[in-house]
Amino acid sequence: LSAAEKRARMRVSIDAPASMFAETLRNAKIAFDVVMEGQSSRVIGVISLLPGEGKSTVAANLAGLLAANGARTLLIDGDLRNPGLSRSLGMETEQGLMEAVVSGQTWQSVGKVDRQTKLAIIPAVLRGQFSHTSELLSSAGMRRFIDNAKETFEYIVVDLPPLGPVVDAKAFAPLVDGFVLVTEWGRTPRAMVRSMLESEPYVANKIIGAVLNKVDLKRLAKYGSLGGSEKFFDRYSTYYLEKSEARTKQAA
Ligand SMILES: Nc1ncnc2c1ncn2[C@@H]1O[C@H](COP(=O)(O)OP(=O)(O)OP(=O)(O)O)[C@@H](O)[C@H]1O
Ligand SMILES: [Mg+2]
Repeated sequence: LSAAEKRARMRVSIDAPASMFAETLRNAKIAFDVVMEGQSSRVIGVISLLPGEGKSTVAANLAGLLAANGARTLLIDGDLRNPGLSRSLGMETEQGLMEAVVSGQTWQSVGKVDRQTKLAIIPAVLRGQFSHTSELLSSAGMRRFIDNAKETFEYIVVDLPPLGPVVDAKAFAPLVDGFVLVTEWGRTPRAMVRSMLESEPYVANKIIGAVLNKVDLKRLAKYGSLGGSEKFFDRYSTYYLEKSEARTKQAA
């Protein structure tokens, strides 16, 4: 994928609001709003078990959708070992989350604001020599940084590293109000999800919902119960895609 195509994938929910992907993320928003009712600020962590299942894509699109709806939203790249979100968004900076937390600065010092949606974004900068990423994510400085951001933002969406290989997402769990678990169609092993749910109660107890990502819609139709709405996903999505493509063509 070209850099422009990568960036476009990070804003499908805004550019194609009728897509099934955007609809899934609107469902996720409803789930947080119900579970975290009455809270003025909600910290949402995006996790998955394995690398590459779509955490950064889901985090960016979820945050973009919230911001485009008018909610004050902050998107944080919390994957300090492999800042894929910052890379996909083409954010090249010297100062990111780690630098702000280490020097006791607030989100304003490193945040960038998207002109179209007003989404504020905190990038991460890869630092080869820094290996204590989990300690940073669970530090008092990180708590201060998040508490300060809560004064401004209604939603704080944090893109985290995969749970399988590193402890970082678990280290950040105390600061999170709810997790979204991203799984990948045909790839994430069920047994691995089950064993995580049993062995990581601090994470499992805060999971609000799961996103099944990169679904093969044609095959999904075969799994649906007779008359179940899954049967129609393929048709819906074709319809939606045609509509959004037509709009793009019109715009062009
Ligand atoms: N719904 C989707 N449909 C098609 N491609 C997708 C979808 N979601 C993500 N991808 C693609 O899958 C790849 C991995 O996505 P992404 O970087 O979001 O995953 P990740 O879980 O954050 O990875 P990492 O563990 O490396 O941080 C990217 O090329 C992305 O464009
Ligand atoms: Mg990522």
